[in-house]
Amino acid sequence: MVDFNTLDDFDFNEKTVLLRVDFNLPLDKESLDILDTTRIEKSLPTIEELIEKNAKIVILAHQGRPGSWDFVSLDRHAKALSDLLGKDVKFVNDVCGDKAIDAIKSLKPKEILMLDNVRKLPYEMEKKSAEEHAKTELVQRLSKVADIFVNDAFSAAHRKQCSLIGFTVVMPSCAGRLMEREVETLEKVLKNPERPNVFIFGGAKYSDVVKTIKKSLEEGKVDYVLLAGLPGNAFLKVKGYNLGEINEDALSEEWSDDLAKEMKEIIDRFSSSIILPKDFGIEINGTRRDIFLEDLPVDYPIYDIGDKTVSDFVEIIKEGKTIFLSGPCGVFEKEDFMKGTKEVFKAVAESKAFTVAGGGHTIAALDKLGLVDKISHVSTGGGSLERFMMGEKLPVIEALKAAKR
Ligand code: 3PG
Repeated sequence: MVDFNTLDDFDFNEKTVLLRVDFNLPLDKESLDILDTTRIEKSLPTIEELIEKNAKIVILAHQGRPGSWDFVSLDRHAKALSDLLGKDVKFVNDVCGDKAIDAIKSLKPKEILMLDNVRKLPYEMEKKSAEEHAKTELVQRLSKVADIFVNDAFSAAHRKQCSLIGFTVVMPSCAGRLMEREVETLEKVLKNPERPNVFIFGGAKYSDVVKTIKKSLEEGKVDYVLLAGLPGNAFLKVKGYNLGEINEDALSEEWSDDLAKEMKEIIDRFSSSIILPKDFGIEINGTRRDIFLEDLPVDYPIYDIGDKTVSDFVEIIKEGKTIFLSGPCGVFEKEDFMKGTKEVFKAVAESKAFTVAGGGHTIAALDKLGLVDKISHVSTGGGSLERFMMGEKLPVIEALKAAKR
């Protein structure tokens, strides 16, 4: 039982529903084509139920972060949703201006309208309280033309952003089916995880990972932490390894002295629980070469973990009774650098542990490897799942709970 409203608590007939989803998808860096639509697919039950219940559906979502290469318009997402639903999805390149308002007002029951990337609004990502967000133009204007706010963005539930928590203050609000199912399943796992408990982190974001690891280790909630990808590289740098300019540049977006200090403290206190890469696959003129820690620094990008690291990881995975997987171990999109991700993910899929996997790229990799069905719970969450697993209160869930009271 969840303690917020769900789709069962409202009558949606002919109502205009503002549906916040997380369609932040992995895109191809050159073509900007969508690489994986799992997050859209997971939102379909909510969207289909709202269509069935005769609602007018307005979708609000984000993609990328301002300034990053994948910060793009959502026209391609509307098209992908339309293909998956087999139904027309309108798109307007506006979020809360007159164009958007007119398009919302002209919607008919069972029609779907996708608004543009909400992060185009300069205040969307400001960390404020729900009450403060409720005063913005976004919330003020959209809440006047919609009846019910539905939040299905579990994978963004750790963000205190305007479109995620502002509407619950001023509108009747509930969770969508995806949010409901994620919270219900994960709460069950959290309450009684079997030990040893193994966390595996990879991928291209690491500042959130640092916080998750710190809290989980301090509270004794995790036995082993296996780090690959940028989280692995960031900890190696803190341990004093020079990774080479190209690999250190890749860490710079999230790097700060405070974060480095935090990582240093973690590694000093919990070194026996943290397993870091011992070897890597690097790309030289388009081909893979494997190197060891001793060969660092290198002038070539690290794109994967090597065989020794894989075997260290697999040994621990075999022991695990609860395994949490977040982020690929390397650039699995490149054929030559898929090996580490493939071996580690295969070991997780074959283990008898209760396995939880999360994050857009993790799901894309599992899908590519045909392993999705072998994971006990595939969550759409990346950062939100990490926070949830360590027992942190997530702003979006708290906002939904507050809206019920
Ligand atoms: C995610 O993909 O983790 C969510 O969409 C949140 O994205 P963010 O890390 O850019 O806030």
